[in-house]
Amino acid sequence: MPKIELKNVYKIFGEDPNSVLPLVQKGATKEEILEDTYHTVGLDNVSLSIEEGETFVCMGLSGSGKSTLIRHINRLIDPTEGEVLVDGVNVLEFNEKELLELRRHEMSMVFQRFGLFPHKTVMENVAYGLEVQGKPMEDRSHIAGEQIKAVGLNGFEHQYPSQLSGGMQQRVGLARALATNPGILLMDEAFSALDPLIRNDMQDQLLELQSKLHKTIVFITHDLDESLKLGDHIGILNGGKLVQVGKPEEIIMNPAHDYVAAFVKDVNRAKVLRAKTIMLSPEKYTSNGKGSGETHKVLENSFIEEFLPLVLEKRSVVEVIDKDGNTMGFITEKELAQSLSKT
Ligand SMILES: Nc1ncnc2c1ncn2[C@@H]1O[C@H](COP(=O)(O)OP(=O)(O)O)[C@@H](O)[C@H]1O
Ligand SMILES: [Mg+2]
Repeated sequence: MPKIELKNVYKIFGEDPNSVLPLVQKGATKEEILEDTYHTVGLDNVSLSIEEGETFVCMGLSGSGKSTLIRHINRLIDPTEGEVLVDGVNVLEFNEKELLELRRHEMSMVFQRFGLFPHKTVMENVAYGLEVQGKPMEDRSHIAGEQIKAVGLNGFEHQYPSQLSGGMQQRVGLARALATNPGILLMDEAFSALDPLIRNDMQDQLLELQSKLHKTIVFITHDLDESLKLGDHIGILNGGKLVQVGKPEEIIMNPAHDYVAAFVKDVNRAKVLRAKTIMLSPEKYTSNGKGSGETHKVLENSFIEEFLPLVLEKRSVVEVIDKDGNTMGFITEKELAQSLSKT
């Protein structure tokens, strides 16, 4: 069962969304709807499913509907039409009490502007969700202390947010979100306000945490490199429509839409595509006539950049193996050239 599912979700902002819905369903564009009805299409028939333990990145330009989408998951926004399921249960049918439980225990949100309480210390900020849950003081301090350590902020427990850099403040945001041990983390442009180097550090830290915690993460960004680095799957929004969902390499190799292709054009493929994605099967390799150079073994998940010099400079053939050493396929100069030049 998917952890999170959206089924045919429409969100229309304005005076009378229900009167406008049929027009959207008939295929009117966001621009037409705005011009003809003064309503704004936030989401247009979005369906997606997110597996437990994966990082799902939702990418799109400003105004494409990313925040609207993520806010449907914790019901900060209700759809004009459609269903939102968490653990297979339609959260639109939740009463106030169930909704509160869901927000307190099942999911946490990390915001672009950090959203910390300025008059609370790091410790108090991180412990806040636990306080709301009614956990005793002793447990709160213990758990919050561990989370502060996990994001590398030990020693800063009694400082106030204004005494910290942006990157450190967002570490507090992350620690606070993790403190209640939610199954789902919702991160809306959480790293977008940070300087590039700090941002890169935060991405690495999130990947490291996630390799241990296996949360279901919905991560929003307008940055393709960030999507490719963090996402197990990436969904691309354009004008409220989900125009493509795929694994990073699928998005790069087969952009399903002009809009996606425009994003993908300048990506360094060698950093994104993996050996297993571009290799020839052993049968095909044999029937093509084997390459003449030396053979080097690389793991199937290696990125092209890791073995590029072996092929281009040393003229080696790459034998792709799995973690047990079994042969999965081969890569010669030709496959490499093709995969790097595809547009
Ligand atoms: N409360 C609202 N009232 C009216 N229009 C809104 C509201 N929230 C968002 N919108 C509109 O919905 C569209 C999607 O917004 P949003 O989800 O915030 O985009 P993103 O997060 O991708 O920048 C935009 O055109 C925006 O102007
Ligand atoms: Mg937004």
